[in-house]
Amino acid sequence: MFEANDPNSIQLTADGQLRHFLTTEGLPRELLIEILDTADSFVDMGEQQVKKVPLLRGKTVANLFFENSTRTLSTFELAAKRLSADVLNLNINTSSTKKGETLKDTLMTLQAMHSDMFVVRHADSGAAHFIAQHVTPNVAVINAGDGRHAHPTQAMLDMLTIRRHKGDFAPLKVAIVGDILHSRVARSQIHALRTLGVDEIRVIAPKTLLPRHIEALGVKVYTEMASGLRDVDVIMMLRLQKERMQSALLPSEAEFYKLYGLNRDKLAYAKPDAVVMHPGPINRGVEIESEVADGPRSLILDQVTNGIAVRMAVMSKAMSGQLSQRAATDNESREA
Ligand code: NCD
Repeated sequence: MFEANDPNSIQLTADGQLRHFLTTEGLPRELLIEILDTADSFVDMGEQQVKKVPLLRGKTVANLFFENSTRTLSTFELAAKRLSADVLNLNINTSSTKKGETLKDTLMTLQAMHSDMFVVRHADSGAAHFIAQHVTPNVAVINAGDGRHAHPTQAMLDMLTIRRHKGDFAPLKVAIVGDILHSRVARSQIHALRTLGVDEIRVIAPKTLLPRHIEALGVKVYTEMASGLRDVDVIMMLRLQKERMQSALLPSEAEFYKLYGLNRDKLAYAKPDAVVMHPGPINRGVEIESEVADGPRSLILDQVTNGIAVRMAVMSKAMSGQLSQRAATDNESREA
């Protein structure tokens, strides 16, 4: 575990621009909307013949994945390439951290290669924050998932997917279902949904998979699906994070599926036009039935497509935040 202090003192410039993207917690609504608007334009671009813009031309993006990932890593890679950056994917399993090099040494080595941005995934909560505190001032850090703490680009791609399908956030009731306890995705989603002003956020889970004091985040807690899903507009399913479960928190997967697995019958509790989301990877027959996952109400593949656009938006914003910060610092030192 790494210690974290006020994230916005690190992730925003003095004039409120994004310079690192570590968490959705506490980010102003206007900034979230700006990210979504920019991402929207990149979704449209993704449908064109030529999918590149020069916003990160001449920049080097290093993907530092200390934990496995398929869709997050590949969509970050594609996002950086569509912004015309040079991309370095670091395979941490074979890298020097396994040879006992500390995280700081790894960072200094990558900085010496003149990387401009680090995209970091790490099993420890606070890792991206720690890195942002220790990089040189001209490197931007994007959190691609740290322990149970945050996964802000996932939350923003979910917000984009909701907005593209439902329009306004204000009238929506949104339910987040499953392993809330271990989920960095749920935490980032809750902060973003709150800031964007949805009508109601619900979490639905067995007691053993609910963090203590979760109500303090402004959510309503349900332990069964029939009442939890009643009249919701959006259902966000989560994967059971078995790799993070230290003890038996569940009787069995079959029991979990019976009570919380999203099938057609349970989907019928929600509004007739409710949409279904899941960050992936999905476990069919554990959290969700194939018929629902592949059905007409599922937005699971839209989430993947929107993930590229959101990551392009966040990377280009962080890079311009970095550049304006650097210009301000240069001016200050010239005046001094
Ligand atoms: C999520 C993650 O890694 O936190 N997945 C993802 O980013 N595609 C959710 C999960 O692993 O369950």
